[in-house]
Amino acid sequence: KEMKREFGRTLNELKNAAQETIDRLRDNIGEEGGSEGPKQDLSMRGDPLELGSRHPVSIVRQEIVDIFRKFGYDVAEGPEVEDDYHVFEALNFPPNHPARDMQDTFFVSTGHPNPLLLRTHTSSVQVRTMERMKNPPIRVICPGRVFRNEAISARAHCILHQEEGLYIDKNVTFADLKQAILLFAREMFGPDTQIRMRPSYFPFTEPSAEVDVSCNICKGKGCNICKGTGWLEIMGCGMVDPNVLEASGIDSKVYSGFAFGMGVERIAMLKWQVNDLRHYFENDMRFLREFATATEV
Ligand code: DAH
Repeated sequence: KEMKREFGRTLNELKNAAQETIDRLRDNIGEEGGSEGPKQDLSMRGDPLELGSRHPVSIVRQEIVDIFRKFGYDVAEGPEVEDDYHVFEALNFPPNHPARDMQDTFFVSTGHPNPLLLRTHTSSVQVRTMERMKNPPIRVICPGRVFRNEAISARAHCILHQEEGLYIDKNVTFADLKQAILLFAREMFGPDTQIRMRPSYFPFTEPSAEVDVSCNICKGKGCNICKGTGWLEIMGCGMVDPNVLEASGIDSKVYSGFAFGMGVERIAMLKWQVNDLRHYFENDMRFLREFATATEV
């Protein structure tokens, strides 16, 4: 109580001092050719704010999503810390498949039948989507981070981004898969792009294929990006194995489907001819600034 007067007086002084300063500055602005210091141009811009730009991986991730959205796909996501069941078992990986080996997978917990691990591919989101949606038609594109126990080099990294596609309905055939991939490739790499499919093996698809696109740099003539072949590998795909449908409660006698999976960094590398994966993770501003204009597209 005793301090109240003193405190009030100090506050009042502060208020008066502030008011005086404001009045003085206001007079100065109003006064033509004010006496105190150079005239200020208040319409001048302040210090420029440096705007960030989107990361090349984000740009390509979004481009892929946008293309499949146009085809009617929804976006689905799943957890990065997954369990063995969703990453391997429900995807028809035989018990001793080498991909379950410690060399490829970062385990979070071991010692029980369904260990937690960092997902090694986004195919796990296929399983989660089928479990969740139950009734086809199912059309999803699943972007996300994946982890592999790899030594970091220009061509390999322990963190990568993938996008997984899944389409399940009645009477889905390999021809539908081929058409979807061809349309995607033309949207992504240009209208003259050709694709070719090579037979391959994945536990979760049968038949399986790897997809190449015609090299958009040399137009198929052969250059050092396509190593003289005229073709660039972009993804794996195939018809969803009936075992995978059944594991998630979808009747494989009624429904069929296709799936595909691609690496976002891989597509970005082909798009911008970046030859070292490590650039995507080092956050060197000189590298990131090169994509500032790509962001505005
Ligand atoms: N999951 C595979 C990988 O990480 C990519 C892949 C291949 C996904 C074929 C698919 C597929 O859906 O059908 O290498």
